[in-house]
Amino acid sequence: MKISVFGLGYVGAVVTACLARDGHEVIGVDTDAGKVAVVNDGHSPIVEPGVEQLMAAGVKTGRISATTDHKTAVLDTEMSLICVGTPSKPNGELDLTHVARVCESIGAALKEKTTRHLVIVRSTMLPGSVEGTVIPALESSSGKKCGSGFGVAINPEFLREGTAIYDFDNPPKTVIGSELLQDAEKVASLYAKLEAPLIMTSLRTAEMVKYTDNVFHALKVTFANEIGALCKELGVDGAEVMSIFCKDRKLNLSEIYLKPGFAYGGSCLPKDLRALTKLAQNKDVRVPVLEAIAASNELQIQRAARRVLASGCRKVGVLGFAFKGGTDDLRESPVVTLIEVLLGKGCELKLYDPHVALGRLVGANRRYIEQHVPHLSKLMAASLEEVVQHGQLILIGNHDSAFDAALEGLGPEKQVIDLRPARPFPKTAARYERISS
Ligand SMILES: NC(=O)c1ccc[n+]([C@@H]2O[C@H](COP(=O)([O-])OP(=O)(O)OC[C@H]3O[C@@H](n4cnc5c(N)ncnc54)[C@H](O)[C@@H]3O)[C@@H](O)[C@H]2O)c1
Repeated sequence: MKISVFGLGYVGAVVTACLARDGHEVIGVDTDAGKVAVVNDGHSPIVEPGVEQLMAAGVKTGRISATTDHKTAVLDTEMSLICVGTPSKPNGELDLTHVARVCESIGAALKEKTTRHLVIVRSTMLPGSVEGTVIPALESSSGKKCGSGFGVAINPEFLREGTAIYDFDNPPKTVIGSELLQDAEKVASLYAKLEAPLIMTSLRTAEMVKYTDNVFHALKVTFANEIGALCKELGVDGAEVMSIFCKDRKLNLSEIYLKPGFAYGGSCLPKDLRALTKLAQNKDVRVPVLEAIAASNELQIQRAARRVLASGCRKVGVLGFAFKGGTDDLRESPVVTLIEVLLGKGCELKLYDPHVALGRLVGANRRYIEQHVPHLSKLMAASLEEVVQHGQLILIGNHDSAFDAALEGLGPEKQVIDLRPARPFPKTAARYERISS
């Protein structure tokens, strides 16, 4: 294919070199005439292992050329990859000036183009940037409509400097955001030989995935460093601890716990987090990431309370209030905390949890309910049906197959707020929502 790459920086240079190596004809475009001259001389404009050789080979075979002329680059190619910088403004906001400028130039060229062109953004941009900046700039400068006159897709780049060619060839995934399947498929054809999972999704989801990845990487680094700092103070080998931690692919490095849903709770996580952060305090080791976890968890409870109160429904039926499904354990259940907030705000509640109901009949849990949450005891209904009948709003707090079955029977007069982590949307005629997805 004939491809133009806008921006010959760390991403654009690698993309240019690798696509030419893969047999495409690539025109690199940059406003920096120095970078353009370096490429046309058969050299790499960036220091990155292997790029110099690929650039030299590409220029020699005529597959790579570079220019400062945006117009001819667009007219001579069938698709454009935007790889310009998206730096921070001094106040931290994302600066899309380069993206807007490059789109205006591409759009001006599209005015003269008779064939359909595809514009693919590889730069990192916040959700809504394609719809809010890229498409309006292209449409106003080209006089054409997105979709019919030209296509737009976003294809975030996951390469890391230093291993960029390896990462281009072995990405963790290929993500393509587009509203048109034909455009997404054309982008996908660039990566046909890669083994990575191919994910086609909406524009906004693709934009958000890149940020989610990067903030998670940042979180992982700081998490490991805080654990390491505390370990050092305790005379424990932090590297060994994290190495053992990483061997656990079932609970630690896995999908488990990484689904938007409700707050964590129970008899272990809150207590153990408190103990570790208190120990760090006593040792004068600052662990702000670990300390922020409990505050963030609290916010999730407040978010849920706000949503319930905003519904205007005062009669609330709660299905599942143990800290998770399949247990009668109420210790530090975030659903219990939410119930207490709602009670304080004047809601009329009825509660049902089959496991708590069972546990209430026998030893330990009966004592816990009597001693710690006697006010909940009075609100507990004898059956799920009673709770469903009572509630204008049904709050689902944990997993139980009976709750899913009940959802199917609800009519449009009922509202449902499901606190459980992401799962397929259930079949229900009720007005159904989740707080985080
Ligand atoms: N560097 C990385 O490892 C990496 C990895 C993944 C994603 N990203 C993202 O990719 C994007 C590019 O990053 P980078 O590090 O390659 O940036 P960079 O600053 O190295 O390169 C950007 C290039 O764009 C050129 N440019 C600016 N305006 C232009 C215009 N109107 N027309 C043509 N060229 C123009 C600049 O002269 C520069 O050469 C950013 O959004 C970044 O967040 C970077």
